[in-house]
Amino acid sequence: MTGYHVLEGEELSRLRDPTRDFALDVLSGLSEDHKKLDSRYFYDDEGSRLFQAIMGCDDYYPTDCEREILENHGRSIAATCAGAPLNAIDLGAGDGAKTKILLRALVAMGVDCRYVPIDISEGAIAGLVEKMGEEMPEVEVQGLVCEYTDGLNWLSSLGDKRTNLLLFLGSNIGNFNKPRARAFLRRQWTSLQDGDYALIGFDLKKDIEVLLRAYNDSDGYTAAFNKNLLTRINRELGGNFVPEKFRHYGTYDVFSGAMVSYLVSLEKQDVEIEALGRSFSFQAWEPVHTEYSYKYLESDIESLAAHTGYVIEAKYRDSKHFFVDSLWRVSK
Ligand code: TRP
Repeated sequence: MTGYHVLEGEELSRLRDPTRDFALDVLSGLSEDHKKLDSRYFYDDEGSRLFQAIMGCDDYYPTDCEREILENHGRSIAATCAGAPLNAIDLGAGDGAKTKILLRALVAMGVDCRYVPIDISEGAIAGLVEKMGEEMPEVEVQGLVCEYTDGLNWLSSLGDKRTNLLLFLGSNIGNFNKPRARAFLRRQWTSLQDGDYALIGFDLKKDIEVLLRAYNDSDGYTAAFNKNLLTRINRELGGNFVPEKFRHYGTYDVFSGAMVSYLVSLEKQDVEIEALGRSFSFQAWEPVHTEYSYKYLESDIESLAAHTGYVIEAKYRDSKHFFVDSLWRVSK
């Protein structure tokens, strides 16, 4: 029989196998000369719990700074966007705690606001929708389980003339290198309308000691968070990593502005991963790269907006000038 068949919808999603994707990414990352593991795999249940612990510890400043910004400037942000009914679209919402501060300000200003968190994890969206429903029953919540761009396009297909306020808070943008950050923001731009807004969190370049402490916290949560990647490989892919035989190392590259995290093998060792049917050799002191978190100068933020089609409406800083939430307007 000749012909073709377009795989789509449920049929396609049934064929997708997240464990196989994880396995293939681990295989390609650990096969490189400079070994690496993709940071997107940090956030399983245990990883999410550990990241909550990181955000709660004193050494990790970004969360507190951004909370302060939203508490002090939420009203001003709300006033800027208050002209029309809003979709507050949350990309990478986490537990939504910071977003809630902004939503409260919008509600207090009488803005007709629909909260739209988008994530590819159904569990994350289901949990968030339930939580928001309980804590802010006055806000309409429409969670979307999909890729960000598909979500934005779906929203615009509703044709309901709402202004979009895209939220990309925390250090999310920092996990992209500068060219990828530009590509990411431009891609969102193509799915947004003239006059829509984006509120983006940027961690600023600052005292290097402060940065190093934030990514090597004294409670050891960051080390545990980083090593959880190995535990996850053990559990989901049948690996036999001994996490104690690796150390977490977080360092700062002043020029690129990247905080870089590694797991360093403390001895020569072989690690087997059943799902991949092979083992990997680590030399003593061989590093595995796990994460970049890029820090910005204010001038970097300006050129990023200018290069991607946005006009900066306002910049909101915390009192220590560690972090900026920058409010951008889409210009077409
Ligand atoms: N990506 C987040 C950040 O840059 C999460 C994070 C904090 C992180 N500490 C880490 C990721 C250490 C890897 C290793 O702040």
